[in-house]
Amino acid sequence: MKPIIAIYPGSFDPVTNGHLDVVFRAAKIFDRLIVAVLGNQEKAPLFTALERVEMLRGATAECANVEVDTFDGLLVEYVRQRQAQVILRGIRAISDYEYELQMALMNRRLEPNVETVFMLPAERYSYLSSRMVREIALLGGPIKEFVPAGVEERLRAKSR
Ligand code: PNS
Repeated sequence: MKPIIAIYPGSFDPVTNGHLDVVFRAAKIFDRLIVAVLGNQEKAPLFTALERVEMLRGATAECANVEVDTFDGLLVEYVRQRQAQVILRGIRAISDYEYELQMALMNRRLEPNVETVFMLPAERYSYLSSRMVREIALLGGPIKEFVPAGVEERLRAKSR
């Protein structure tokens, strides 16, 4: 049977333990998982695409079937280019659902052969977001339990 390749797209500005929880769960299910960092963003991210890729690579180094890459432009175009069959997204709470539904249905309209699969991170990460972690770090608050050690250091360096 053809190996199932899933793309996990996102801003990952920066990657949190919630994202990683989804990555580790998905790596057990799919043959290959490509974590795809969005390069061209409307809002200026805190970390460059290269920094975000480096942090993700550091945090997923032990997963042999996980690759980290960047993409620009339409997600479905990138999915086709990587010959993937699945778009993976994490859903935390019901508040994520509306946006995710809209995006999944639009992506299906653009590329009917690709399925969006949703996974739930562990409950302890259900309130965690990159935006909040950035804010707490920039205000000098504790972020140790929310991000891997390498990310914590980089956030601290940005907030100095
Ligand atoms: O982590 P995020 O910011 O919620 O990720 C959003 C992302 C990167 C998945 C989304 O913005 C995206 O796919 N952008 C690429 C452009 C695109 O394909 N837009 C149409 C999606 S319906």
